[in-house]
Amino acid sequence: MAVYLVTGAAGFIGANYVHHLLEWEPDATVVAVDYIGFAGNVANLDSVIDRVIFEKVDIADLEVMDALYRRHRPDFVVNFAAESHNDRAILGPSSFMRSNALGAQVMAECSRLVPVRSHVHVSTIEVYGELATGDQWFTERSPLNAKTPYSAAKAAGDQMVRAYMQTYPDMNLRLTHCANNYGPFQLPEKLIPLAVTNVLRGRKVPVYGDGLQSRDWLHVSDHCAAVHRVLHAELEPTPAAAATDPGLLPIFDISARCEVTNLEIARRVVTELGRNPDEWIEHIPDRPNHDRRYLIDPGKIESQLDWAPSHDFAEGIAATVAWYVEHHGWWEQIIAEKGELGFDWSRVGPAAQSH
Ligand SMILES: NC(=O)c1ccc[n+]([C@@H]2O[C@H](COP(=O)([O-])OP(=O)(O)OC[C@H]3O[C@@H](n4cnc5c(N)ncnc54)[C@H](O)[C@@H]3O)[C@@H](O)[C@H]2O)c1
Repeated sequence: MAVYLVTGAAGFIGANYVHHLLEWEPDATVVAVDYIGFAGNVANLDSVIDRVIFEKVDIADLEVMDALYRRHRPDFVVNFAAESHNDRAILGPSSFMRSNALGAQVMAECSRLVPVRSHVHVSTIEVYGELATGDQWFTERSPLNAKTPYSAAKAAGDQMVRAYMQTYPDMNLRLTHCANNYGPFQLPEKLIPLAVTNVLRGRKVPVYGDGLQSRDWLHVSDHCAAVHRVLHAELEPTPAAAATDPGLLPIFDISARCEVTNLEIARRVVTELGRNPDEWIEHIPDRPNHDRRYLIDPGKIESQLDWAPSHDFAEGIAATVAWYVEHHGWWEQIIAEKGELGFDWSRVGPAAQSH
């Protein structure tokens, strides 16, 4: 029976992946790792907690992680663990550097010292930065050009993973960059759950600036299936030409080519809830240094690994809104524990807090 080590397992995507994994492979041993940072929520694993081995540890701690690897001897590793919220990274970048950069290196180092069958490092479209006017999309060949503290810390982790990939090619280390995800279990400070939970509490939906920031959206289940596909892919050895062509490295960009503005997302959510968007949306000051647009091309994973998204965007958003409506208790508990989760940059300046 295969042993899976899944980090960030109490976060949004990690928890969704653990749920899917136990459906896909009911006999798998799943070691679910999370240090329960701001976004971590063990309740995301409630319905499967008896079927996983939960380890509350920091992936950036080499000694602890090395011991954990030696104890559990994972066959497959998926590293979702990261500090993930752009707004919070502006207020305090340090923890982002630790989890996203050092954590990525420690995880790769553990898989080097205690070899695994394959290891996927999960990264984001945001490492490519902002798409220039006229550019169609990013690909695996695009230069990393992160411009926010969150995405720069992720890019630092990516660079280290790329270095391990090329220095230790037998490690079976793979890297993915995904579009923005939506679906169940997302912390209600992100756009879609924030919009739903605000409307359900009689509050308007805040939209940064003009709301015309354009994002690439993918249902979280499609992301999980793509990561699983990459994890299990039988890949050819990396050719020497990959030294100067990152498109030849085991890197896969994941997207449904679904470009939607933040304003359109907010309007859809409000409409799904039976309210008039013109009355329920308010524009608030934009956050500093906000990426205007990004979109990536999933052509490589489609052609090489035969992956395709299965969720229609309109249906996926409707189902997601319904999930938050049905799971009142889940998000009320989070708000009770963590307080209000929206940001207002006219009141919260970047200098308001530093770490
Ligand atoms: N949410 C998206 O739209 C999106 C899109 C593309 C890629 N990603 C990437 O997917 C991954 C998961 O994102 P998410 O949205 O689920 O984030 P999330 O913030 O909801 O979850 C991340 C989890 O990692 C845990 N964590 C953070 N640092 C840790 C550490 N040092 N040790 C152990 N656990 C730690 C947190 O406690 C949290 O539970 C991240 O790497 C993110 O960059 C996210």
